[in-house]
Amino acid sequence: MTSENSQLVIANTISFVKKQLEGAEGGHDWFHIERVYKNSLLIASEENVDVLIVSLGALLHDIADSKFHEGDETVGPALARKFLETQEISEETIIHVIKIIENISFKGGNQLQKFHSKELAVVQDADRLDAIGAIGIARAFNYGGFKNRLLYDPDIPPNLTMTPAEYKASKAPTINHFYEKLLLLKEIMNTETGTRIASERHLFMEKFLAQFYAEWEGEK
Ligand code: ADP
Ligand code: NI
Repeated sequence: MTSENSQLVIANTISFVKKQLEGAEGGHDWFHIERVYKNSLLIASEENVDVLIVSLGALLHDIADSKFHEGDETVGPALARKFLETQEISEETIIHVIKIIENISFKGGNQLQKFHSKELAVVQDADRLDAIGAIGIARAFNYGGFKNRLLYDPDIPPNLTMTPAEYKASKAPTINHFYEKLLLLKEIMNTETGTRIASERHLFMEKFLAQFYAEWEGEK
């Protein structure tokens, strides 16, 4: 495929995703996709990967989150396939992009990932980066507010051994999410670039938490 064709497919995909995400909640809106797309391209520039597949995976990875479709994880991939079939790309590319969408998400509960590719590794790192650092903190509290969760409750400790079902159903305070997911991401990054950026964002979250507890106790 010529790069001109790729550019057209990407432009069409951007329009499709923007339309699809109209009215989406703040942590999962078009801007999340745009950040993941940009981080994906940044990481991809230092890896030997198919940039069209990375781009389509990043753009289409969150078009129908299962959290907002009664837990149904097939809605997003099905919608993405339907759209991709209208584009001039190979079936091989479509299959790979769909596999990325199906396998990108961290479900918690030590679930095993079944598919691996360099392109998935890049998009997964970019998505994880958007869950940590300053943006990650903002998204976590936004999600907690959306779910009407407490900011923090010293009497409810984090639970690190949740099954995927318990993780989904959890009503724990938002601070717990840092220990159950956000602070664990640095260790499971796939790429060197991703790991480097994650380490900086991780330090920022640790500083944030230290300050949060100090303020909670009325120390500062
Ligand atoms: P992604 O879009 O990166 O795949 P998720 O769909 O798991 O991530 O979550 C979207 C955002 O909401 C992330 O920033 C994530 O940290 C946050 N989030 C998910 N679950 C919780 C939770 N239980 N408490 C607070 N924030 C959460
Ligand atoms: Ni995402």
